[in-house]
Formats: sequence, structure tokens, C-alpha cells
Amino acid sequence: MQEQLAAILATATAAAPAIATRPEYESFKARIVGPNGSLTAAMKGMAGVPKEERPAAGRLLNETKGALESLFAATLGRIEAAEIAARLGAPVDPTLPSPDDFAGSLHPLTQVREEVSGVFRKLGFTIAEGPEIESEWVCFDALNTPGNHPARDMQDTLYMPPGTRCVDAPRRGVEAYVLRSHTSTVQIRTMLRQEPPVRIVAPGRCFRRDTVDATHSANFHQIEGLWVDRDVTLRDLKGVLDFFVREMFGSGAEIRFRPSFFPFTEPSFEMDVRSSGLGRLSGRWLEIMGCGLVDPRVFENVGYDASRWTGLAFGMGLERIAMLLYGIDDIRHFYANDLRFLRQFA
Ligand code: DAH
Repeated sequence: MQEQLAAILATATAAAPAIATRPEYESFKARIVGPNGSLTAAMKGMAGVPKEERPAAGRLLNETKGALESLFAATLGRIEAAEIAARLGAPVDPTLPSPDDFAGSLHPLTQVREEVSGVFRKLGFTIAEGPEIESEWVCFDALNTPGNHPARDMQDTLYMPPGTRCVDAPRRGVEAYVLRSHTSTVQIRTMLRQEPPVRIVAPGRCFRRDTVDATHSANFHQIEGLWVDRDVTLRDLKGVLDFFVREMFGSGAEIRFRPSFFPFTEPSFEMDVRSSGLGRLSGRWLEIMGCGLVDPRVFENVGYDASRWTGLAFGMGLERIAMLLYGIDDIRHFYANDLRFLRQFA
């Protein structure tokens, strides 16, 4: 019995390396464990083994069976690997680098838009929207920007062809339509739609007839903020914006207000930020937004009682914020769709 089993294992071990296909493998296996196989015969032979030798013979039989099963598994594994390699047309080299697994990511401007919106959401602001084609009245007149104001100049603002209409445009006499030059339009639309209190931020695309260079783009993005309530003061404006810059630029970030002019706020300011976490721009005052207290004329234009309501407003360019945060020196990178640039924000 012992020699018989040793011979079966030795024969099988010697034959296995030459087995190259599935049919060969099947008949190889059948010769050993099939109905007429050598191991099957040996198992039948157990009946003739004297009683006292049976336990030892049984153990040996099981060991041989186990060894043969490993041999079958290894042989089949080798055949399968060869099949896969043949399908691929080349041997598999597991040391090759894996294929590019870049699955795409949000555009840096989208990320900054979400981050900025998220900071204001913490202060109870909700997100508001408005159309990109806007009536001249909403874009300028309602924002207290008279007809002869330079911002309305054809050089700056892109006018739509005569006959253009815009969804839900509030009609105020003869209308012209523009591509909105700022998101302050959403202040007007929100106030026309709802009574105070109002606390919104409005991110969105804006358009101007700018010559494209490293810092100008005819198509850019802003986020506008508006808070209308009783007794909103400059302290609230400073508090909101101070919180904003510390969330965005680090807890040590400081702000500075410089007197300025916007038709829709009185008083108006340019706000600068200074932070130690801005690389080569660290420690410098950097202008990031316009802001102020809502001009009572704007309230009158939307039918709010200017003697009851007060408000703060601010507006900033998202490209500018992204450029400062990430140390980007050319605004055109945002629109070039160059994956080498975009992948850095994954
Ligand atoms: N709309 C202004 C611009 O495009 C930015 C701005 C300044 C918005 C002051 C405001 C504000 O709400 O109060 O340059």
C-alpha cells in the first residue's frame, strides 16, 4: 500500500509540469481520481489491508490525497494564468505601474465657491440665484446706478441684442438687457421677491467687456452677500467679514476697511485682508472685496420701507479668492482646461 501510494504521487508530480491545456488537465486528473484512476484503485484496495495496519494506511491515503489536490490546484492555476496571458497577448508583468486612476475632481472655482458659501451658511445665510441675462434696470437702475454712470458704459457691459427677453424680468418702462456685470443683481431680485429679514449669498457667473490678460477675464465669478434686518450696523458688517476671513485665510487673518464708493452702499468700503498663511503674499494687505451698508435708495427701489430697514452688502470675485489661496498668478488657468493645472486640486 505504502509503495503504491508513493508511486502514484511520484508519477503525478513528474507528469504535472507538462500539462498545458484544460483537456490535458482533465484527463490527467481522471487518470488519478476518476472511476478507473490510480488513487481510486488504491482506495478500493484498503479493504484488503489487515485491520491493524488500517489506521496508518488510512492516514497515508489522506496525506497522498491532500498532496494530489494541491498539485491539481497548482496545475490548474498555471493553466489559467497562461490563458489570461494569452488573451492579453503578452505575459503579465505585475511590477508595471497601474493605469492612470485619476477620476476627475471639482474645478478649483467650484471648490472655492462651496467653501465661501459654506462659511456664510454657518452665519445663517442661504444661497440665492439669479439669471445671467438681466434687465438693465435690475443690473443698474435699481442698484442706484444712474444712466450716465461709467459702469454702464458699452466698454464695460455686454448688451444683448434688441428684442432679447429675460425670464421674470421686472418690467420698468423701456427695457434693455445685459449680461450681468455683477451678482449684485441678486440683491434686487431677492428683495423684490420677499419681505425682510433677508440673509443671502449669491454666487454666480458675471460678464464684462474686459480685454483678457493675467488678471482680467470677460467671464468671471462673484459671490454677493446681503443682510437686511432691523438695526444692521457697521459692527455687523465687520463681524461677518472678520469671521469670513478667519475661516478662509486662517485664524490669524486680519481685515482693514478703506473708504470707497459704490452706488448701492453708503458708506462704502474696500476691504483688505492680511494673513500669514499666504505664501509669498503673507503679511501684505490684499484687497478682496467691496462692501458697505445698503443705500436707502436701493430699499426704495424694491419697495422696502427705508426708515424701518437697514442692511449690509458685500461682493467679491471668486477667482481672486482662489488665486490668493492657491498662489495662482494667471486667471486664464481657470478656463484653459489644462489637466496638469486641474489635477492639482483633486
Ligand atoms: N458689485 C460690486 C462689483 O462688481 C461689488 C460690490 C461692492 C458688491 C460693494 C456689494 C457691495 O454688495 O456692497 O464690483
